[in-house]
Amino acid sequence: MLQSIGEHIWMEEYPFEVFGIALGRRMIVIRLADGGLFLHSPGEMTDDRKQRLESLGRVGYIVAPARFHDLFLEGAIGAFPQSELHAIRPIFSRFSSRAKTFLLSDQAVPSWEAEIEQHDFRAGPFHRETVFFHRESRSLLLADLCFRLSGQGLMTQLVGRGLGVVNRFAPTRDIRFWTMGRRQRLRTSIEKVLEWPFTRIIPSHGEIVRENGREVFREAFRWA
Ligand SMILES: [Fe+2]
Repeated sequence: MLQSIGEHIWMEEYPFEVFGIALGRRMIVIRLADGGLFLHSPGEMTDDRKQRLESLGRVGYIVAPARFHDLFLEGAIGAFPQSELHAIRPIFSRFSSRAKTFLLSDQAVPSWEAEIEQHDFRAGPFHRETVFFHRESRSLLLADLCFRLSGQGLMTQLVGRGLGVVNRFAPTRDIRFWTMGRRQRLRTSIEKVLEWPFTRIIPSHGEIVRENGREVFREAFRWA
């Protein structure tokens, strides 16, 4: 079900497991001033979900901001063939023969730049994603950069604890390892995000941070 987060922003959560870890997944929908919907990490496009989206408006932009966030992309594109696809490089390459397909980067996108800002966040060789700031709702949209799991189930406890994300909002611990001794690019990204006056953090997995988002984000990366 779509849940309203603010006047023009909604999310839809659904169960999602990887290797027995209950990660959960969240699709975020923002209605832009021109009426077009910005669809962040679309979920499986069932008839019900499609109808719910259509009740909000016309899907204008489908966004695949991180690796593995293309899981249900084909279905979303099939359901909304007129929409633009904006994806990070590996996903973009897969769809580049499709018309209306664009590479996500630091470059502002004219269709939404007045309402949503973005940054190409780099946290080591294996973690790169485009993060977004929705001005009106003061929300930071993350894919996999940080999350917090409540840790139900044995595998979630084991792996989640290993990654350092059970009951605390944090980047997964491997990011510390991969950026060791070369954190300048990471620090630049952290500082860029902290320029945005967000209060809420909405990651694609785990719980939402509902208030004091900037403080929580700063604390999560204090080690860097
Ligand atoms: Fe993810």
